[in-house]
Amino acid sequence: MLQGKKILLGITGSIAAYKAAVLVRLLVKAGAEVKVIMTPSAKDFVAPLTYSTLSKHPVYIDFSTPDGKWNNHVELANWADMMVIAPASANTIAKMATGLCDNLLLATYLSASCPVYIAPAMDREMYTHLSTKANLERLKSYKNIVIPAEDGELASGLFGEGRMAEPEHIIDFLSKRDNQKKNDKKLPLSGKKALVTAGPTYEAIDPVRFIGNFSSGKMGIAIAERLVSEGASVTLVHGPIHITNINPAIKLIGVTSAQEMHDACVKEFTKADITIMSAAVADFRPITKAIEKIKKADAGLTLKLVHTPDILTELGKKKKAGQLLIGFALETNNEQKNAAEKLKKKNLDAIVLNSTHNKGAGPGGDTNKITIIDRNNKTINFELKLKTEVAKDIVNYIASCLKK
Ligand code: CTP
Repeated sequence: MLQGKKILLGITGSIAAYKAAVLVRLLVKAGAEVKVIMTPSAKDFVAPLTYSTLSKHPVYIDFSTPDGKWNNHVELANWADMMVIAPASANTIAKMATGLCDNLLLATYLSASCPVYIAPAMDREMYTHLSTKANLERLKSYKNIVIPAEDGELASGLFGEGRMAEPEHIIDFLSKRDNQKKNDKKLPLSGKKALVTAGPTYEAIDPVRFIGNFSSGKMGIAIAERLVSEGASVTLVHGPIHITNINPAIKLIGVTSAQEMHDACVKEFTKADITIMSAAVADFRPITKAIEKIKKADAGLTLKLVHTPDILTELGKKKKAGQLLIGFALETNNEQKNAAEKLKKKNLDAIVLNSTHNKGAGPGGDTNKITIIDRNNKTINFELKLKTEVAKDIVNYIASCLKK
């Protein structure tokens, strides 16, 4: 259902601009409110008057209007529930992929946080050129971009090799996506934003060596993927890991050192309703990173180490009402007591304890055995399970906390 939806339709310089006129008409017929932004070269194909007549709104082309008023791209972007760029030319796709913004349409695209759908339109050679392919790949990795042809819902045949999708199919596609979103809303964590950390951090000794740990990132990734299946939108800040097939709905931020993880987490934390710090952050780093590779010294080598920032402690200090902050604790002795102390010290809502005494638990492997401890010292013990199953227990626990 597109009834009542506010849709920004971007039209770029392609002969398929004529199909965009039909698209405007069908969107309006479906009950949507449509505002059209054209790139300057789109005007060579179809006159703006066609779209303003069909959409019953002025068409936006330049940053200023002939009578000197400013077309505010941020306002346009905020107004929209979705943005559809159809036809999307090779030129506009390339600019979108790299963040260029030399016209009103691109500036609005860069300001938009709503979903952006693009319907590529160009000749076969341009579409199959490696540069265009690389740009489309890049766009696909951006969280709010959907390229229907690649999405399985519209067979790529409909696009031919770059031929723009038929307006009827675009309408069909958009309505389906919208329905899907409505269903998503019924999930326990829909509308919630989550921040998860995973993996180790590497602290450089010199250009070729580092101090690290055995964490694989599996636990954090399993949690992030589970949060997505429960409806949350998830950002995963991860250290160096070797897992590649992570759910593409997750926004990935790759870092190397504890300091970099700290900076990324502090930035993302303000937006997060739920934060789970499962990364195995290095507690120490060499005081300096040698510029050149350290040579084998006769007398051996002594490294002076200093503390890395304790990310979780800092987030605990910044935590506001309504934010849920969950840490991990890896303990070798006095497990419960140490974990409970960490929970208090770091101002957490709960802590997930794994003990090195439990066979099959902890970093690296596919399984884990956890205990969740909350602020009232209530403990829940779980069996040894696959990390994907442990993630379900943790996410169920989170959902139950949010219900309270
Ligand atoms: N953590 C962090 N920043 C650090 C070290 C740890 O944010 N520099 C987080 C981890 O992601 C984990 C929690 O703190 O969620 C506990 O990590 P753990 O290594 O068990 O505890 P530490 O606080 O480092 O204390 P210790 O090593 O002395 O047990």
